[in-house]
Amino acid sequence: MTNINTLSHDTAGHPTHELALSILEGLSSSPKFLPSRLFYDDKGSDLFTQIMALEEYYPTRCETEILTDHAEAIASYLGSDSFNLVELGCGDGAKTIILLNELLKKKTNFNYVPLDISKAAIEFLVENLKKEYGKIPFQVEGLVAEYFQGLSWLTANASKKNMVMFLGGNIGNMNRAMSMRFLRHLWHSLNDGDVVLIGFDLKKDLDVLYNAYNDSKGITKEFNFNVLDRINETLDGNFDRSKFQHQGLYNIQTGAMESYLISQEAQKVRIGELDKEFSFKPWEALHLEYSYKYLKSDIEELASSTGFEIKDNFTDKQNYFVDSLWQVKK
Ligand code: AVJ
Repeated sequence: MTNINTLSHDTAGHPTHELALSILEGLSSSPKFLPSRLFYDDKGSDLFTQIMALEEYYPTRCETEILTDHAEAIASYLGSDSFNLVELGCGDGAKTIILLNELLKKKTNFNYVPLDISKAAIEFLVENLKKEYGKIPFQVEGLVAEYFQGLSWLTANASKKNMVMFLGGNIGNMNRAMSMRFLRHLWHSLNDGDVVLIGFDLKKDLDVLYNAYNDSKGITKEFNFNVLDRINETLDGNFDRSKFQHQGLYNIQTGAMESYLISQEAQKVRIGELDKEFSFKPWEALHLEYSYKYLKSDIEELASSTGFEIKDNFTDKQNYFVDSLWQVKK
C-alpha cells in the first residue's frame, strides 16, 4: 500500500504566513539571509535533481558508489524482524533504491517512510518506485513534512525497530550547534539498538568543492535564483534577478561551502505580502546556504556527544564522502 500524508508546516497551519515571517526576519538581518529550506519548492526540488546528475556535483556520484558497494554490509545491521526505514529529505529516492533492492533480496519485511518538504519530490519518488517494481513490494508511507515533524512520527511509531537515513549530506546545512540539537532530538525519538545512516561530505581539495557549487551549466545558480522567483510568486515580491550575481564560496575558517546572491547595485526590493521594502547596498550579500564539510574526527565527535556509537564508516574510493552508520545507545 502507498499513501502520502501532508503534515502542516507550522502550528498555525498557515505555511505562507510562516514563509513571509522567515523572509521578514532574514531580510531585516545584517548580514541578510534566507533560510535554505526555501530552495525546496517543487521547482527547486526538480532543479536539485538536475544538480545531482551533474558530473561536477560529486556527492551524488560518491554516495551512489558507496551504497552500491556496501548495500549488503548496511543491510546486515537490520535483522529479519519487520522495521521502519525512514528517510529524511528523500528527494527522488534514486540512491535509496539500491538499498531497497538489497533488503528485498534478503526478504526482509519493512515499511518505507520517505519524508520531504516537497510533495512533488515524494510523488516523483513513488513514480520511480513504480517504474522499478511495477507493483511496489513493500509498504510506502510518504510524509510531506519538516525534519522535526518526522522525528515526532518516529516517537509515535516507536514499537518497531527503525533505521533512519539522512543521506546526501543534508546534515551539512546545519552548523555544529544545530546538528547537535537535531541529532540529540533524533536520539530521543529512537529506541536502544535502532540505527541511523548519515551522509557526510568530507573536506577536500578546494577546487573540487568550488566547481561542485559553481557548476558550468549554471544549474546551481538557477537553484539559487529560484528562491527569488518563489518569493516573487508567493509573496508578491519584485526581486529582479538581473541585478544579482550568484557565488558559491568556501569559508576556510568554518569549513563550509556558502551560497550567496550579491546585489550588483543599490536597489530596493518590495515584498507586497509584508507591505515592506528592503534596501540593498551595492555588492551587499544575501546568504542562502551553508554546506558544511567534515573530518572523520568531527563525525566521531558528533556521534559520541549525542549518544550514538559508530558501527561503520563507508567511503568511496576517492574518500570524498562517507555514509556513517550509527547505533543508538540507551
Ligand atoms: C541537499 C543540502 C546536500 O549542500 O550539497 C547542492 C544542496 N546546494 N548544490 C548540498 C546543494 C547547492 C546540497 N544538500
